[in-house]
Amino acid sequence: MVVVGVGKRGMHHAAAFQASSRFEVAGLCDIDSARLEAAAAQLGVAVKGADARQVAASVRPDVFCFCTLPNVRAGMIRAGIESGARLIAMEKPIALTSAEGFEIRETLAASGVKAVVSHQHRYGAHYQKVKEVVASGALGRIHTVYGTATGWMMHMLSHLIEYMRWFNGEADVEWVMAQAAGRSKLADVHPSPDYIAGFIHFANGVHGVVECGAGAPDVPEVDYWWRKCRIGAQGTDGFAEVLTGGGWRAVTKDGACSGGGAMSYDLDMPPYVQQMADWLDDDRQVHPCCFDSAYKGFEIMMALCRSAAGGGQVTLPLASGADEIELLRASLPEQRVMLSIPASAKEYSWGSGS
Ligand SMILES: NC(=O)c1ccc[n+]([C@@H]2O[C@H](COP(=O)([O-])OP(=O)(O)OC[C@H]3O[C@@H](n4cnc5c(N)ncnc54)[C@H](O)[C@@H]3O)[C@@H](O)[C@H]2O)c1
Repeated sequence: MVVVGVGKRGMHHAAAFQASSRFEVAGLCDIDSARLEAAAAQLGVAVKGADARQVAASVRPDVFCFCTLPNVRAGMIRAGIESGARLIAMEKPIALTSAEGFEIRETLAASGVKAVVSHQHRYGAHYQKVKEVVASGALGRIHTVYGTATGWMMHMLSHLIEYMRWFNGEADVEWVMAQAAGRSKLADVHPSPDYIAGFIHFANGVHGVVECGAGAPDVPEVDYWWRKCRIGAQGTDGFAEVLTGGGWRAVTKDGACSGGGAMSYDLDMPPYVQQMADWLDDDRQVHPCCFDSAYKGFEIMMALCRSAAGGGQVTLPLASGADEIELLRASLPEQRVMLSIPASAKEYSWGSGS
C-alpha cells in the first residue's frame, strides 16, 4: 500500500498499516521533501517521491491512502483509481464543496473501487459503549441526537454528524436548517464559518441538534480544547453520551452509570485498518467508515452551510453541486464571532476571512 501526505495523520496511518500483519507500506509520497525523507527512514520504505501518481504507478498498491490537507481531494481519488488500487483510504472531510463531493462520489461509483473515510473515533471504548446503550433499547424510543464541538466546522463537524447518524441507526435525513457567524476561519486550510449551529431532521422522526465552533457550549469535564466534544442520544427513558476526551455516561430506567475512555489514535487506528483488510477479503464485511456512509454525513454538512448562507430549510439529498464556502463568504455578516468560553479566544480572531 502507499501513503500520500506524511504529516500528522499520514504518519498515524502509515504506522498502523505497517504494524498490521495484513499490509506493508511499500511507497510514500509528500511534497515536503524533508518530511518525506524522515518518514521513509523511520518506516524503512524505499519507494518515495513528491508525485503521488508516480509513486503509486511504481508500487501498484492494493490500498491507496491519502492524508493531505483538504484542498487536495478529487485529483487524489483519480490517482488512486488509476493506480489500480482496490481500496482508497482518505481523511475527512470528503471535500470542501458539494460540487467536489458530487464529483468524487461519481468517480468512485464508476470505478467500483472501495473507499473509506477516517472517522475512527468510533472505535473508542467510550463511543462503543454509548452505541451499545442506545442499541440495547435501554433509552426507550430515541427522539433526539446531538453533537457539539468547540473546534471549527471542517475539522469537527463531519465527526459529530457521523456519530450522531451512527447512534440513530444511520437513518436518512429529510431536511436541515442552520445559522452561522464569524468569518475568521473562512480563509483557514479547513475553511469554515467560526460558528455553525443547526437542526437535522431524520426520516425516522428523530431530531438532531448540532453546534460546532466558537459559540458551541463548553464541555467542562474535558480540559483538552480539541476534545471538548459531546455526542449523545436522548430517548423516552433516558440518555447516553460520549465526551471525546472524557468517557461516557448514561441514565436509564435502571439508574445512572458512567465509565472512562478518551480518544486515542494509538487505540483507534488498528481496528480501522483491520476492517479494511476484512472488507477487501469479503465484500459483505462493509467497512463501518465506508465512503457511502461518510458521504451522507458530508451532504448534511453542506446542506447546513447552504441553509446558513441562504436561510430556510434545505431538503436532502442535495440535487446539484455548489460551493458552500463561497456562499457563506458572500453572506456572513462582518461581525466578530462571540465566544462561549475564554479558551476559544486563541483560536478565533477578528478577520474578514476573504
Ligand atoms: N480523523 C482524524 O481524527 C483527524 C485528525 C486530524 C486531522 N485530520 C485530517 O487529516 C488531514 C491531514 O491533516 P494533518 O493534520 O495530518 O495535516 P499535515 O499538514 O500534518 O499533513 C498533510 C501533509 O500532506 C502533504 N501534502 C499536501 N499536498 C500534497 C500533495 N499534493 N501530494 C503529497 N503530499 C501533499 C503536506 O506536505 C503535509 O506533509 C486533513 O484532512 C485533516 O482534516 C483528521
